[in-house]
Amino acid sequence: MPQETASSEQPSAAFAPLETIFAPPVALVTGVAGFIGSHLAERLLSENFHVVGLDCFTNFYARGLKENNLRACRAHPRFTFVEGDLRKVDLRALVTQHNIRYIFHQAGQAGVRPSWGSDFLPYVEHNILATQVLLETLVNLPDRAQIKKFVFAGSSSVYGDAEKFPTSEDALPRPLSPYGVTKLAAEHLCFLYAKQFDLPVVALRYFSVYGPRQRPDMWFNLFIDALLRGKTIRVFGDGEQTRELTFVSDIVNANLLALRAPDDTPRLYNIGGGARSSVNGILELLGTIANTSPHLEYHPRAAGDHRHGAADITRAQRELGYTPRVELREGLRQQFEWQASMLNQP
Ligand SMILES: NC(=O)c1ccc[n+]([C@@H]2O[C@H](COP(=O)([O-])OP(=O)(O)OC[C@H]3O[C@@H](n4cnc5c(N)ncnc54)[C@H](O)[C@@H]3O)[C@@H](O)[C@H]2O)c1
Repeated sequence: MPQETASSEQPSAAFAPLETIFAPPVALVTGVAGFIGSHLAERLLSENFHVVGLDCFTNFYARGLKENNLRACRAHPRFTFVEGDLRKVDLRALVTQHNIRYIFHQAGQAGVRPSWGSDFLPYVEHNILATQVLLETLVNLPDRAQIKKFVFAGSSSVYGDAEKFPTSEDALPRPLSPYGVTKLAAEHLCFLYAKQFDLPVVALRYFSVYGPRQRPDMWFNLFIDALLRGKTIRVFGDGEQTRELTFVSDIVNANLLALRAPDDTPRLYNIGGGARSSVNGILELLGTIANTSPHLEYHPRAAGDHRHGAADITRAQRELGYTPRVELREGLRQQFEWQASMLNQP
């Protein structure tokens, strides 16, 4: 074995200081105070990453809920929180000063129904513009090769009413909502920058995500909340529309597995939960979990809601080794218990 000497001017990699060799990898999670971002950040911390989390607390739902989501991360010594909007913070300084290697871009303006009408602007700002600003910053870094992976939170809403079920990534995307249009535009921006500037991009198209911390505007959250308060549940459409349902820890797994995707070309993967159910089926299951019969009130179908959704996850299974692990009943039970515990909080 060669000896390391004090006089060696350029230590070889083999003699790099221990703190360099064992320095935890640094990841940026945008939208870290949100439903998915907060779970992902916690998991990255448990996998020995240093996490820089960015969020601007958009007013889509209450800041208090997002602060709750962030609580465990904030208490972690390897977590740094930056409050700011992707379009306004000094991203270049943030990425270079923290030596960020991995980007998990979860920030966005979610929600299909509110994306119609005069509320469209935040969808353009937070989904399209914010993504473009982030990408532009990354490809203009002093050392572009600093970024080892850029994972984008895409959406199954880009498919609209797909021609085939389960739907593969090759299906023609034809969104049915303005939200879906902005998610598709953001995804295209990611691929454009990837191809033009060799940014190692992986886009994941999430299929309806549920679990503890689910956004308060989402179906399951609304249904469970009504059940817990003994209120009537409003169902839009006949309740026979189906969705592919993905538990949040499976989404988090997929994000980590995305780091393994080959870099030769930008990658796109459907991430589904392997469970498909109609709205009526979910309500029945929730009734069993809550040990009560839900009071239902049916309303006309909402604009932008697609009829069916089902993910073909063959590509993610083959290339990433992704397999959904949490079954619907178990996932629903966990969300139910979380919401019940939140209701009892002072
Ligand atoms: N939840 C789902 O079922 C689902 C399905 C498909 C895709 N997605 C995508 O996953 C991502 C996360 O979704 P979620 O359900 O956790 O939503 P969320 O609203 O809980 O989280 C998004 C977070 O991003 C933050 N944010 C938005 N714009 C920002 C900006 N310009 N700068 C900094 N922070 C900003 C918000 O304050 C929020 O905390 C979104 O991009 C969404 O489009 C979610």
